[in-house]
Amino acid sequence: MNIPHTIRERRTIRRFNSTPVTPELVVSLLTDAANLYEDEGTPRWRCLFAGTPESRHRLVKSMTAKMKESRFVKLMPAKMIDFFIKQITDMPAHLIFIAESASDRRRSDENYAAVCSVMQNFQLLGWERGLGALWDTDPMLQSESFHAEIGLQKGERFAGILHIGYFDKAPRARRRTPAEQKWTAIGEDAAADSLQPDYVRIPAQSILKVLNDAVWAPNDGLREPWRFIYVTGSQAAAKLSESDRNAKPALLLVVAKQEADPHKREEDYAAVCCLIQNVQLLLKSGEWHARRSIPDWIYDEDQCKPFGIQPGERIVAVLELGENGRPPQSEPPSLPRLIITHL
Ligand SMILES: Cc1cc2nc3c(=O)[nH]c(=O)nc-3n(C[C@H](O)[C@H](O)[C@H](O)COP(=O)(O)O)c2cc1C
Repeated sequence: MNIPHTIRERRTIRRFNSTPVTPELVVSLLTDAANLYEDEGTPRWRCLFAGTPESRHRLVKSMTAKMKESRFVKLMPAKMIDFFIKQITDMPAHLIFIAESASDRRRSDENYAAVCSVMQNFQLLGWERGLGALWDTDPMLQSESFHAEIGLQKGERFAGILHIGYFDKAPRARRRTPAEQKWTAIGEDAAADSLQPDYVRIPAQSILKVLNDAVWAPNDGLREPWRFIYVTGSQAAAKLSESDRNAKPALLLVVAKQEADPHKREEDYAAVCCLIQNVQLLLKSGEWHARRSIPDWIYDEDQCKPFGIQPGERIVAVLELGENGRPPQSEPPSLPRLIITHL
């Protein structure tokens, strides 16, 4: 895959043609998408596939049940409602992604981050095969009928539906804000000469180049809810365990803006996970290496303050950057668990 090109060219597709999508292709793409995700833990998530006419019909019925009850929709002409329902019914296939429940917040975030990253990988791999996708988190999906249809258990987090299909025309790209405008550097990087020689020194320009590809992540409402804090030298080392400290990596903190509305907040967190996944894919093929982690300290406000994290923000992940060939990770990543069920 030409990673930078695919990340930049991928578009959200909202209008599909009638070419069927085979379950074999979906399973193969999903397996590859899961294998592309690297993490230290064993994230748990599951995925439902609705590809038969019956399952698609059942899914649409459960999706639109809440909509039909809405007072606003009751005032709409029947033709308009039918048109909307037909639009979803005509979509060739749907993948529903769910992060499994976990006992603590960090684990729960890990599962959710994993599922969002796999969704992004799936979109990229699909794009290479001419397959388009629409990530759907419409509030009408927050309904009992929909949750019952997908068998959502207590504590599980619904991450979104990917409506998928082939398409005739991709929409035009909508511009992204340059990463330079969302960038802060902390540490001895500004005076690089004062860094000890064995510290990893990745020029800010190299990382910004990667980030300017990565910002082509999908994000609802084009809110671009991310910013970046690059930490080098002793401040980076202070946040690492003894063994990791020896590799003297630089850290990239990827920060999400936290909207007051919980639905938007969840969508924004998902978008930031897509961006982080882009960074990892982009770095994998280059000179640098990134290990993603969700350390406990990011949940402690006092420990986040020295990095300038504001009350309406949170760190989504810490990327430990090292030179390829001298990767900072001490253990090989384990493969994520893939569970796919037909609806
Ligand atoms: C978490 C998430 C939720 C989204 N939800 C919706 C949605 O409910 N409806 C929709 O039309 N697009 C949705 N999108 C797609 C965005 O609108 C789309 O990514 C954005 O307009 C940028 O366009 P692009 O993906 O073509 O770059 C979602 C994207 C993400 C990452």
